[in-house]
Amino acid sequence: MANLTIRKLDDAIRDELRLRAARNGRSVEDEVRVILRDAAQQQPHEPQTVPRTPLPMLAKSALPAGEPAHGLPRVTLIIGGGIAAYKALDLIRRLKERHIEVRCVLTKAAQQFVTALAASALSHQRVHTDLFDPESEFDAGHIRLARDADLIVVAPATADLMAKMAQGHANDLASAILLAANRPILLAPAMNPLMWNNAATRRNVMQLRRDGVAMVGPNAGEMAEAAEAGVGRMAEPTEIAAAAEHLLRPPRSRPLKGKRVLITAGPTHEAIDPVRYIANRSSGKQGFAIAAAAEAAGADVLLISGPVDLAAPAGVSVTHLESARQMLQRAEAALPVDVAIFAAAVADWRVAHEGEQKLKKAAAGTPRLELVENPDILATISKLRDKRPGLVIGFAAETENLIENAKAKLARKGCDWILANDVSPALGVMGGDRNTVHLLTRNGAEIAVDSWAAMTKEQVAAKLIAHIAKAVEKAS
Ligand code: CTP
Repeated sequence: MANLTIRKLDDAIRDELRLRAARNGRSVEDEVRVILRDAAQQQPHEPQTVPRTPLPMLAKSALPAGEPAHGLPRVTLIIGGGIAAYKALDLIRRLKERHIEVRCVLTKAAQQFVTALAASALSHQRVHTDLFDPESEFDAGHIRLARDADLIVVAPATADLMAKMAQGHANDLASAILLAANRPILLAPAMNPLMWNNAATRRNVMQLRRDGVAMVGPNAGEMAEAAEAGVGRMAEPTEIAAAAEHLLRPPRSRPLKGKRVLITAGPTHEAIDPVRYIANRSSGKQGFAIAAAAEAAGADVLLISGPVDLAAPAGVSVTHLESARQMLQRAEAALPVDVAIFAAAVADWRVAHEGEQKLKKAAAGTPRLELVENPDILATISKLRDKRPGLVIGFAAETENLIENAKAKLARKGCDWILANDVSPALGVMGGDRNTVHLLTRNGAEIAVDSWAAMTKEQVAAKLIAHIAKAVEKAS
């Protein structure tokens, strides 16, 4: 897509744009994105009248207490110049595993230890290094980096960076962001034990704590310098990620805490013989994203998946299996649950007689496969009497007459909600990263249809979990 140069717009439009952006609490760049996206979807793009969320804003941005403002929570990660900077690269991965978007800023000194290229490859985002960057300064990039995030993490937080922060300096990009921030800040200090214990650092730490800055570590242990040990090692990336997550998703914003949520995901494989099987194109991404979002909302998640090439979301244990019959058995064994979400693309048929040995070409000409129908897991669980989950949600994967077919499916299967999506190959939903869904809910004989804009599968997951949280709250 072409880049937009805001500078080239005429003054009146630019001012209007800035005003809109300020009113909506967005950067000018993001405002333009919203306008373009809405125009493409032919939706009205009235400025939101909701006032900008004052500090602390974590509960709002935290998933999935309400509708997330921009999908996943965002962290601006400032990497300071110390030997521990190499661990910050792992921290990017740990944050992303927790479904947190990361945008990196490297100080000049940090670039002596790690490269912007490595940080950008891991974060999948442009890395920022300069206060006066012509590409982002049209809308005061440091302000955007400070405000667009839900949390600012500094790792490693060097003695120098902390001193600058305590004094309110703003002579490079990192310190300018920290001074301009109205978002919570988490520091992961890392320095030599003598520097950590120095009276000046002690004063700065005290000042920063008084200013409301959160800290994780430093830990005690060996230093990179030979034969030195003491307090000053940066906390491990997993500890920093957990501290960040705690700030982003405080326990009170875990609306599904104490609820058991069962999720099926991925395709099933139905064996023809020991080496061949019937399958479909499902990647499992949508089901896994829902599991991650449910876990982030505090639920106790049971994820049952067919064969997929995906890592288990943090905090979720996955049961891997192959066939529809195994999936049904495992789902039944998981009951009772509060909510069940059937995102798996279960094979509708299996072969009637699975070959014990590999079918040979020469044996009896072209084999004829007789198919029998698989059990319908969603329908079976929906129609249970005693152990029926309080809320049963299915998917309707359609290639034509989307809403009509989904409505019929909702009635036929006996579930409470259906997420309908068009899986025509041209749209690239199966295996892709984005999804356009319509949520069908039953209200007595009436079926309401709520059509969502195209969004990433993580955003669909977050939105679905927010809806579930509301329904669970209403029911209790
Ligand atoms: N489903 C299931 N067990 C099956 C088939 C489907 O649990 N044997 C669930 C899916 O997980 C999904 C919903 O039923 O939540 C609808 O799946 P879909 O493939 O869209 O519909 P089918 O029931 O297979 O009907 P059809 O293929 O005719 O559209």
